[in-house]
Amino acid sequence: MKYNFDKKINRKNTNSEKFDFAADFGKSDGLLPMWIADMDFEVLPQITQAIKKRASHAVYGYTEPKDDYFEAVISWFGNRFNFDIKKEWIVKNPGVISAICCAVRAFTNPSDAVLIQPPVYYPFARSVILNKRKLVNNPLVYADGRYFIDFEDFERKIVENKVKLFIFCSPHNPVGRVWTKDEVKRICEICFKHKTIIFSDEIHCDFILPPHKHTIAATISPKYLPLIITATAPSKTFNIAGLIVSNIIIQNEKLRKLFVKERYASGLNMVNAFGIVAAKAAYTYGGSWVDQLNSYIRSNFDYAEGFIKKHMPQIKFIKPEGTYLLWLDCHGLKLGKKDLIELIENKAKLWVDEGEIFGIEGSGFIRLNLACPAATVKKALKQLKTAIDSISDR
Ligand SMILES: Cc1ncc(COP(=O)(O)O)c(C=O)c1O
Repeated sequence: MKYNFDKKINRKNTNSEKFDFAADFGKSDGLLPMWIADMDFEVLPQITQAIKKRASHAVYGYTEPKDDYFEAVISWFGNRFNFDIKKEWIVKNPGVISAICCAVRAFTNPSDAVLIQPPVYYPFARSVILNKRKLVNNPLVYADGRYFIDFEDFERKIVENKVKLFIFCSPHNPVGRVWTKDEVKRICEICFKHKTIIFSDEIHCDFILPPHKHTIAATISPKYLPLIITATAPSKTFNIAGLIVSNIIIQNEKLRKLFVKERYASGLNMVNAFGIVAAKAAYTYGGSWVDQLNSYIRSNFDYAEGFIKKHMPQIKFIKPEGTYLLWLDCHGLKLGKKDLIELIENKAKLWVDEGEIFGIEGSGFIRLNLACPAATVKKALKQLKTAIDSISDR
């Protein structure tokens, strides 16, 4: 079956965070929303069918996943990533952010050091700081339009700060890197050497642009597996973030028990009844939908690359290897923070994520979500070009 990702869906008045809350976020009305990581596409039809079937029962009490749910999760990761998961390793959880917060509390004590690699998904830093742990940064290195890990700095920071937990973003949001097997292996080796637990947030693992390949950290070697917590979720992949369901894979029984205890301490043990049926349908029937979606996103990225290089050479296109997020280097516009926002919001009429929210290293960058119909991408880029032309003419 061929899915229609060109279909434009009006998401207004659906309580959509992306579309319906401009005023709450201090944005003016009428901006084209290209921010936050959810997609403007209709979901896989079997997901809607499963939800409708469940809804028609009309009793929505406390609900738990059964074997068929776990089998669907296990098959997905086994078939697509060669990750051989045992049912008892899977800890269902409402979401990945809450799992990160639980992991921080479960595996570290107040003041212990937790390491992240900015510019990175901003709840990482927030979950460390709000839980009163010491935030240690191993900034990514930005060179020739691509991001790299500074492994020497990574190991030094781990040793100097006695880092207990590393929150790994793989693939990386916002910079779009799909870490190579060698890079993931090096991360594992260093963490193993220093007994640093890895919380590997792999929520974007299904968005990979060939020839890149995603390596689940936990598959590198059985030696490293007991050290790794793998966070997965159908929410990004299948656009069901509002259904509140994720699966955290923890092979190490001791760590799993600590995590589950903390999850109870936080009252996070339940998932959503509709999330369960949606996730099962997604992982059972969603393979070709995800493959077609990736091709569609790739063509959006290709269009953006051509358009930006031709019409907005002041902006540096950073070639994404995965995710559906475009990370643009706007330093060439030579605008301060305030003027850049003025350009994006008041002139281009776009609502994007400002780079600085991902850490100071993101200053001068913007993040655009291209998981939307091609027509929306074209409109957004045209608006940006017109805005840039208007300031260049002065
Ligand atoms: C890297 C990363 N982790 C986690 C999340 C959110 O996870 P959840 O909605 O399950 O809390 C996102 C959403 O954008 C993300 O990009």
